[in-house]
Amino acid sequence: MQTTTTISAAREAIARARDSGRTIAFIPTMGFLHEGHLSLIDAARDNGAEFIVVSIFVNPKQFGPNEDFARYPRDEERDRELLAGKDVDLLFLPSTGIMYPPGSQTTVSAGAVARPLEGERRPGHFEGVATVVLKLFNIVQPDLAVFGRKDAQQCAVIDRMVRDLDVPVRLLFAETAREHDGLARSSRNSYLSPDERKLAPALHRALRAGEQAVIRGIRDVSAIETLMRRMIEETPGIEIDYLAAVDPETFLPPADFRSGVLLVGAVRVGRTRLIDNVRVVNSS
Ligand code: PAF
Repeated sequence: MQTTTTISAAREAIARARDSGRTIAFIPTMGFLHEGHLSLIDAARDNGAEFIVVSIFVNPKQFGPNEDFARYPRDEERDRELLAGKDVDLLFLPSTGIMYPPGSQTTVSAGAVARPLEGERRPGHFEGVATVVLKLFNIVQPDLAVFGRKDAQQCAVIDRMVRDLDVPVRLLFAETAREHDGLARSSRNSYLSPDERKLAPALHRALRAGEQAVIRGIRDVSAIETLMRRMIEETPGIEIDYLAAVDPETFLPPADFRSGVLLVGAVRVGRTRLIDNVRVVNSS
């Protein structure tokens, strides 16, 4: 596996692969890799990737002033070993100065889909995500880019950006990788103490209860949200940030359930904020 820290070296390595006719796949990450990230690499390969680029960059622009940028977990050595074990071709490891050199000022304003839920609670987050993802797309120019569905609203924001700005890339959104008890895999799970770890799957259980309600034919959004909320309230030690049933494309309350519904939630377990979602398709 080749590792580059500069944009020009990354471009050169990728150009050579492209010139040899290989399909370029890209998986942007913030590192501290886990099974979820590795499953994105598998998904890329299953979808025809012949040259796989992974980036690791903890993007300061997507963290609010009181968020966990400084303590976000980092372990470059372990990440390199995991990626080499998956036969990744190129690891792009830029510094903040490379991604945002002095004087850099242009950002991507994400659309309406970025406003509710995560967008409301984390002002500027999706602008930071859209900006770094577009920059990375411009550097790598992949044929295919893979993102995990755990960050459902992020997927919707990127999907919208790619369509609105005519970015020539095929997006693939891969299923959420989960622990044995349903907890969505996330680098932030490493913040959880053993006791908090035991509480954390309650979020997924609540979303599954919401899913069952939709499958049973319940179409009253507030009834579904109350049911999910009650399940979390049964678990002392978890604080609800939001639990909602939304339209999978707009992230607003669903007008009807014909295009499916997304059950989304964010909770705090101790100091750790966890998000998750469950999609219910063809639920009308
Ligand atoms: O999902 C993430 O890890 C990040 O938001 C991403 C897409 C790598 C952008 O920094």
